[in-house]
Amino acid sequence: MATHVRLATPLDAPALVALVRRCYGDAYRVGAMLDAAALAAAIAAGREVYALAFDAAGEHVGQAGLVRVAGGRRWDYCRGVVDVRHRRSGVLTQLGAFLLDEVAPALGAEVVVGIPVTSHPFTQASCRAVDMVPLGLLLGVYPGYDAAGIGRDPQPTSIVLMGRRTAPAPARTVSLPDLDGARARAALAALGIDVAVARSDRRRLGWSARREREIGLVHVTVGPAQPAPLRALDLEGLAREPGCRLLWLDLPIDHADSARLVARARGAGLGHAGLLPCSGDHGADVLRLQRYLDPAPLTREGVRVLPELEALRDAVVAECLGAELVPA
Ligand SMILES: CC(C)(COP(=O)(O)OP(=O)(O)OC[C@H]1O[C@@H](n2cnc3c(N)ncnc32)[C@H](O)[C@@H]1OP(=O)(O)O)[C@@H](O)C(=O)NCCC(=O)NCCS
Repeated sequence: MATHVRLATPLDAPALVALVRRCYGDAYRVGAMLDAAALAAAIAAGREVYALAFDAAGEHVGQAGLVRVAGGRRWDYCRGVVDVRHRRSGVLTQLGAFLLDEVAPALGAEVVVGIPVTSHPFTQASCRAVDMVPLGLLLGVYPGYDAAGIGRDPQPTSIVLMGRRTAPAPARTVSLPDLDGARARAALAALGIDVAVARSDRRRLGWSARREREIGLVHVTVGPAQPAPLRALDLEGLAREPGCRLLWLDLPIDHADSARLVARARGAGLGHAGLLPCSGDHGADVLRLQRYLDPAPLTREGVRVLPELEALRDAVVAECLGAELVPA
């Protein structure tokens, strides 16, 4: 356990970077955590919040963050790092409890999402330790992920989506039918969010795409605030973009047109990824669908998850990768 936990100020940015370098060497992927000036600016602007842990000698031995997403009803719990000498003594759990129990409600977060990796499944235990529930699985996000002291993942590393409600939340409308609707309702129930029977959203939908070239991601968002007309959305064309390893599509779960779009996306080879609360236009909950296009194969066993997440993993792997990449 740490003896003291507190929030970071912009002046702590160099210490945050130093701990990342000490723990990961050159293997860390989140560039923002290696740039003290950018980190100080993000903390000063309130976009990112970090908790620091200190031992009895006053040495900084651990840290974890909350990063604001979209409009600020969702924050992501991430960037946890603990000094090798202090691991497995509950430091991260202590930081997480502070961030989720005390800091997130004060920030106005309705939901905090955790994004633990599958290269070392105990990161999923870190999210479970702060009462997060499973929401989905993003396949093969990081090629060649390598955390110091953990070792290199033999296949691209996937991310489990987990989450916890951190404030009272209004009831939601689920307009998706069948299995997609059932999955959305189950995820909302696990978060302790009610589903109400109400009219579906019927505003005109548009789309936009953002790209993360480092990981070959093309991420399409569909929503009423997006600029391009839906008739111009060509998912197969986006999948063929040079360097595209991952295609994600986010659709609002409460929209009358989403069911039709899900069918169109499945026709373009996308499968289930998960529910992301408060993540779309105007804070809408979105269903994320995904297509994994990297020639590097993913195996079901290589997507390492805690036992209670195996059913979710198997369903996502079977739906998105098909039988040929999944050994019996
Ligand atoms: C991940 C990391 C931050 C965990 O910090 P920590 O302070 O050691 O974690 P805690 O002691 O609070 O343990 C949290 C949970 O993970 C489990 N856990 C932690 N390390 C573990 C290990 N090596 N093996 C198995 N379980 C482990 C704990 O048992 C606990 O789960 P439980 O509540 O079900 O018992 C730390 O190992 C680290 O810095 N690793 C390198 C960086 C990293 O991997 N960051 C996350 C990348 S997404």
